Amino acid sequence: MSLELDLRDLARDIALEAGELARTRRAEGVRVAASKSTLADIVTDADREVEALIRSRIAQERPGDGFLGEESDATAGETGVTWVVDPIDGTVNYAQGIPAYAVSIAAVRGGTTFDAWQAIAGVVRAPAFGETFLAAAGEGSAVETMDGSAPLRVSEEWPAGALIGTGFGYDPRTHAGDNATVQRVMPLARDVRRIGAAALDLAYVAAGRLDGFFERGLKPWDIAAGALLVAEAGGSVAELPADDFGRRMTVAGHQHLVDRIAERVTAE
Ligand code: IPD
Ligand code: CA
Repeated sequence: MSLELDLRDLARDIALEAGELARTRRAEGVRVAASKSTLADIVTDADREVEALIRSRIAQERPGDGFLGEESDATAGETGVTWVVDPIDGTVNYAQGIPAYAVSIAAVRGGTTFDAWQAIAGVVRAPAFGETFLAAAGEGSAVETMDGSAPLRVSEEWPAGALIGTGFGYDPRTHAGDNATVQRVMPLARDVRRIGAAALDLAYVAAGRLDGFFERGLKPWDIAAGALLVAEAGGSVAELPADDFGRRMTVAGHQHLVDRIAERVTAE
């Protein structure tokens, strides 16, 4: 088997195990351990425990690889492969008991920023929904459930307007600007969704459930797996220049829609 498929399958196994741990901890009751960048930006004990599990499984199977996760210190590897991991994307949903959260695991080479990496494999597992979205570079992307597997394809037409996902950063100073951006994009939209987990937003774009997605200020672990899902489903992901708060804009969907959203989010 190719390296791409090997790493995808390893990421899938680890994401399934990590997702079950997250689900178990959720059922037992969640404790917020700390706030990070702002009061709204929380980390739970489960985020840390799930990341530690993922990290130890990767280290067992691929000891020389690098690691970049949301909740622990990064390490550079010796193999050229780095794992970019969000143990729980959608932590606020998770803490509030909303089932839209996911484990996101990607393997990349070449760097740990969107511009620098070439993604090799990516998996987004939504344990509360029983869905696993997975992709390997050059091999397409698919969603797996208990009922089987189906290939992913981004939507190509949106006659009633596009169903567009978005998100807002945790810093209240950025909310007014983000609302203004939504207003500028609205003429393209039939409606908007704020699902609360960027990895799931991107998986849903890959699946054609959302037509497009845009959000400022996402981190590498929010997008590494999801961006590969979109690309392998025939879509495109763009990173646009930063705003005054240093937040770049991620836009995803079919290339035509990405271009149209990009025009509007960059217009002041
Ligand atoms: C967050 C989610 C959310 C997005 C935030 C992210 P986290 O990740 O993806 O949808 O709006 O920008 O930080 O904190 O739940 O891992
Ligand atoms: Ca997270």
